[in-house]
Amino acid sequence: MTDTLSTDLVHPADSADAAWWRHAVIYQIYPRSWADSDGDGVGDLPGVTARLEHLRDLGVDAVWFSPFYTSPQADAGYDVADYRDIDRLFGTLEDADAMVARAHELGLKVIVDLVPNHTSDEHVWFQEALASAPGSRERNRYIFRDGRGPGGDEPPNDWHSVFGGAGWTRVTEADGTPGQWYLHLFDSKQPDLNWDNDEVHAEFESILRFWLDRGIDGFRVDVAHGLIKEPGLPDYDAELHILDGELKPGAPKPPMWDQEGVHEVYRAWRKILDGYGEPDRILCAEAWVRPQERAVRYVRPDEMHQTFNFDFLQSQWRAADLRAVIDTSLAAADSVGAPSTWVLSNHDTVRHASRLGLPVGERRPNGISAADPQPDRELGLRRARAASTLMLALPGSAYVYQGEELGLPDSTDMPAEFRQDPTFIRTQGKEIGRDGCRVPIPWVKDAPSFGFGPSDATWLPQPAVYGEYAVDQQVGVEGSTLELYRDLLRVRRERELGTGGLAELAGYGDDVVALVNTGQGQSTLVLANLGTEPVALPEGSTVLVASGPLTDDGLVPLDTTVWATTA
Ligand code: GLC
Ligand code: MG
Repeated sequence: MTDTLSTDLVHPADSADAAWWRHAVIYQIYPRSWADSDGDGVGDLPGVTARLEHLRDLGVDAVWFSPFYTSPQADAGYDVADYRDIDRLFGTLEDADAMVARAHELGLKVIVDLVPNHTSDEHVWFQEALASAPGSRERNRYIFRDGRGPGGDEPPNDWHSVFGGAGWTRVTEADGTPGQWYLHLFDSKQPDLNWDNDEVHAEFESILRFWLDRGIDGFRVDVAHGLIKEPGLPDYDAELHILDGELKPGAPKPPMWDQEGVHEVYRAWRKILDGYGEPDRILCAEAWVRPQERAVRYVRPDEMHQTFNFDFLQSQWRAADLRAVIDTSLAAADSVGAPSTWVLSNHDTVRHASRLGLPVGERRPNGISAADPQPDRELGLRRARAASTLMLALPGSAYVYQGEELGLPDSTDMPAEFRQDPTFIRTQGKEIGRDGCRVPIPWVKDAPSFGFGPSDATWLPQPAVYGEYAVDQQVGVEGSTLELYRDLLRVRRERELGTGGLAELAGYGDDVVALVNTGQGQSTLVLANLGTEPVALPEGSTVLVASGPLTDDGLVPLDTTVWATTA
């Protein structure tokens, strides 16, 4: 630290030899949309394997794959019919092994998605449950209940599905009579498992071992806060939304989320992973839990390793909000000895290049259609680059969603007939849903499907403008978003920002986020200007990376983040 900088420590440095996951940058591949090898319009594992060098060159540490298991694809693979096989759409188990081997060769760790809250209705267990009588062992693997009211015609309680509509569906019994109801917090093709049943625990422990034995390095755990439901399944008549675990502060606690019993599940899983020795295999929770003090209970020392920080993703583009969420996230994670995580985009949210192009202060939309106010593309990109430059300077682990390294916007004018997200269908279009952020990636501007695959086919239409964002338009181009990300990841590594301590730098106005990442003894200044007045860097500092051009006299303008040396 130089004498001229007055700072206030918000987070102490991690140890220099901290385990890989405490500071890793993890890239999310949404397999249907990354790279298609066979021209059927759907990305696949051979496509991934062929393009993995993109990630080595980008400089990330690990890849997380959204589900590629056997599935009827009612929720793009988050409805798993066989946890131990690959859907033919994506390839075979041999293709998966080849992909993992290639990733490891390139120095990339591989994290797979695990979906324990529900299976597909086409999973053999659910088929057996349908064929068996109420009260049977087969039914007890799911959450079947008799209906309420005369004839049991009403659902057992009033829970909603996260995707809209009722959270229960009635089955027809084997003898043809209207029967029991089963719970599905998501689509009716995603029946919730009964985690009060030991058989379910045993099955998932075996699935973990299946993938660990194949050499994978960890799991991203889907809906990790949902497995256990409050006993008696009490009524809770409130809409549920993706990423929003709770309603307003003070409202009753949702009986389907964040129940105490989930922690026991993860303690057992942690023991299994620890049994595989070094380097650590990891668990990352997708848990929509607030406040942060509660969310970090998933990453206590004997539970998971990481939990997604959705508060950061949902922060408004205001310096005060960003400062607050950075402080609270680090304080909460530090209180349990876990690294914080950071994320701006994923397959469930409007990409940050589009989200940040909407007026500040509005609620994050669940999808954008042609009928909605359109994001300002230029403004969104400028802010997205500034936001990513801020994120990648923060200590802990960061998640990058495929395409954000290209500055890719959402498809915001997709015609309704192409939409596939069950949210769109179950809310009759009231919620647009997540298709806009799931469109296949552009690799080559002047090629069919922008180089996504060998044919014109893409499972969702690509906006014409995607060509401009193609990888081949950005590689080696100074100032491109791809080159910005490469610079950021290289400097992040060189200056050990991932394990650094963090301090706030005094002397800047309210509209500036001014931080110092101490690395392992080498300080890096991080300055994000969200105000209209350009600001000066401290005397003697030299710019390392900037999210956009500085003013002619070297000042940091509006919506720009800079990394610099401290004198
Ligand atoms: C998680 C996934 C989302 C999926 C849901 C149900 O939130 O990220 O894509 O639809 O779980 O599995
Ligand atoms: Mg394909």
